[in-house]
Amino acid sequence: MIHVHPCYSGRHRPAFTPGDNEMLHTTLCDRLKIRYPIILAGMAYAGDHALAAAVSRAGGLGVIGSGNLSTEDLAREIDAYFKLTSIPPGVNVFLKDPESPAKAERACRMGIGVLFTGIGNPAPVVRYAKDAGILLIPTVATVRHALSALKAGADILVAEGQEGGGHIGSVGTLPLVSQVRAAVGDRIPVIAAGGIGNGAQLAACLMLGAVGAMMGTRFLVAEECPVHDDLKSSLIAATIDATTITGSFTGFPMRCLENDFTRAFQEMEKAKPSIELLMFGKGKIADGLMRGDVRNGSCPAGQVIGQITCREPAAVIIERGVREACAVTERIVRGGGFNGWDGGPALTD
Ligand SMILES: Cc1cc2nc3c(=O)[nH]c(=O)nc-3n(C[C@H](O)[C@H](O)[C@H](O)COP(=O)(O)O)c2cc1C
Repeated sequence: MIHVHPCYSGRHRPAFTPGDNEMLHTTLCDRLKIRYPIILAGMAYAGDHALAAAVSRAGGLGVIGSGNLSTEDLAREIDAYFKLTSIPPGVNVFLKDPESPAKAERACRMGIGVLFTGIGNPAPVVRYAKDAGILLIPTVATVRHALSALKAGADILVAEGQEGGGHIGSVGTLPLVSQVRAAVGDRIPVIAAGGIGNGAQLAACLMLGAVGAMMGTRFLVAEECPVHDDLKSSLIAATIDATTITGSFTGFPMRCLENDFTRAFQEMEKAKPSIELLMFGKGKIADGLMRGDVRNGSCPAGQVIGQITCREPAAVIIERGVREACAVTERIVRGGGFNGWDGGPALTD
């Protein structure tokens, strides 16, 4: 719920003050003890301790991705995070990863604040979050997933639309967030994800009834993000339609930058057995993200790439997003309504 500053409800409304986050304060801020309702998405390779700490220190919630790590490496990442800040991070486990229960168990004993799970049934890891008394936040891509995650013990849900980078479902963020909200009602709060990269998109999600936004692709170009510089340059140069979906045939659809790898993979998917595809795809995400092989590697990224124009610190991405979200919301609250865009802030990054 958007808490409108009391001053805005009367006739004498103050001018918008940049940095005022009153309007964006949601129940998510209270539950996670964060300043802004913005969460770094769990991302294999890209969401390491440094990026997570930068996001947490800037007032969002930093999340360490574990998809590319062993259980021991994850423990080292959590230790490294706590050397940079004492704010408890989130940790994301990728449920297709057979090591995810071991990773969840270890992470939940290390003082983290939230266990996030990727798309899939979170049942195998629920008890680790419950035993540690921390929040469990699964990602869902359909209303049916949402209801079963709720039944499995989720405390909050992430509803991720197919505009997002990485593994996705087939429903867009706008219909998904609305329909998940309607289905779960007041039983559980919902965070929106997929295609969110600026303040207007954040405000739109809050208006749909989400309590916050999770952003992955937007943070790939953060200065603290460890992905290769050539990938950052490609993301900045890319247009809105530069992504494609691999894995549609294998049942694991993934949105990534279209390149020689994705074209070859999509051809193979039509005819080759899964095992050959698995071998062909092996190591390709590391090639794309960490070695900067933007032609022959796999580079998970979402459709917000078309609005990303430069590298900048995570704190700047967050501060600008908050300022824009407040400005947009304030205009609507003030009575400028949805027609008042002339002369407004440029809502691009
Ligand atoms: C580079 C990259 C890696 C990702 N890795 C994971 C992962 O390991 N586990 C997971 O659950 N989701 C992963 N995702 C999906 C994100 O958690 C998130 O749902 C998505 O980025 C949200 O959409 P957006 O990219 O439009 O912000 C990844 C996304 C990207 C872009």
